[in-house]
Amino acid sequence: MSAELVDATATVRSAFAERFGGQPEGLWAAPARVNLIGEHTDYNDGWVLPLAIDRRVTVAAARRSGGLLRLLSLQRGEQVLRLAAVRPGAMNGWAAYVAGAVWSLAQEGTQLDGLDLVLTSDVPVGSGLSSSAAVECATLLAARDLHGGPEDRARLALVAQRAENEVVGVPCGIMDQMAAMACTANHALLLDCRSLAAEHVPLALDAADLVLLVIDTRVAHALADSAYADRRRTCQEAARILGVPSLRDATDADVETARDRLGGVRYRRARHVARENARVLDVVELLRRGQPERIGPSLTASHASLRDDYQVSAPELDTAVEAALAAGALGARMTGAGFGGCALALLPAGAAEQVAEAVTATFAAREFGPPEIFPAHPMDGARRLA
Ligand code: GLA
Repeated sequence: MSAELVDATATVRSAFAERFGGQPEGLWAAPARVNLIGEHTDYNDGWVLPLAIDRRVTVAAARRSGGLLRLLSLQRGEQVLRLAAVRPGAMNGWAAYVAGAVWSLAQEGTQLDGLDLVLTSDVPVGSGLSSSAAVECATLLAARDLHGGPEDRARLALVAQRAENEVVGVPCGIMDQMAAMACTANHALLLDCRSLAAEHVPLALDAADLVLLVIDTRVAHALADSAYADRRRTCQEAARILGVPSLRDATDADVETARDRLGGVRYRRARHVARENARVLDVVELLRRGQPERIGPSLTASHASLRDDYQVSAPELDTAVEAALAAGALGARMTGAGFGGCALALLPAGAAEQVAEAVTATFAAREFGPPEIFPAHPMDGARRLA
């Protein structure tokens, strides 16, 4: 266990004893993620390639009777809820992610009398690193282990996604919950978002002397914002015009042929999705061949497409990408939903300091707030710790 994780487990254990009395029945953790490539493809039934990173939500939990959910977040405070009152449309704030996961498990047929739960998180909120999926997945795994429920990781990811879609009210795809549930160390997760078939693709960064830097612009994104729902709607319209079930089924050539019928905006959105799906498969091919140093151009092309065709970038993200490339990165792109949040840069290990300094200096020159820059190491998905 890393030092951070040992700290977090000791912290939730003692907070549990202090607040609820006695020992928790177990400890669980679920990681944050970055997406290597495959952006805005999950809700189009396409492919994504996320990896879990070394930031996580850690929970301590125990069953209780009496129909109550007693929640303590070490960052956000305390809430006591009646389980019977948790339902779509009735919740907001951080507790909705926890209560939503419990509600969603109950929809699977699991009987829950109540739960005491303490959680701590070192995932920045609103940075596009999926802090919400980490909360849902850590809670869900705890509730499932204590009260019973599905074993299958893909099923669990769907249960967590339902919490976010229905109780939190964010129309997200399946990528984040699958990443939190199913990633493994030293690998990226190739996920077919239609079948949920998953393949662990080696991402041996250290062996190739590479570093994947996360550049958190600290510009908060608002995922629940209308822009995300708007992109989803436009993609559905484009699929209908193309006569396919979803944009996963359209190639770049199909989109080109239908250019006039689609019209400007739908054409550009569809072109991004078709090309992005192809890029995911190209990157996977290079990784399977053990050539991670060659994926850079695909990452950078993905960024250009998200900026120009899908139009979900932000000046800070574009700056992070440009500055990283100018300072020696092999490839760089925004990651996550966009409109702020994080960028990724792949670089030779020896260039890490120079790239981080160049990005920070460029942010200062443009009068943006200072970014937070840290390396991403591919980690395991959600698991029980004790
Ligand atoms: C958010 C959503 C995901 C996915 C990405 C964009 O992270 O939660 O489902 O759509 O945006 O790729």
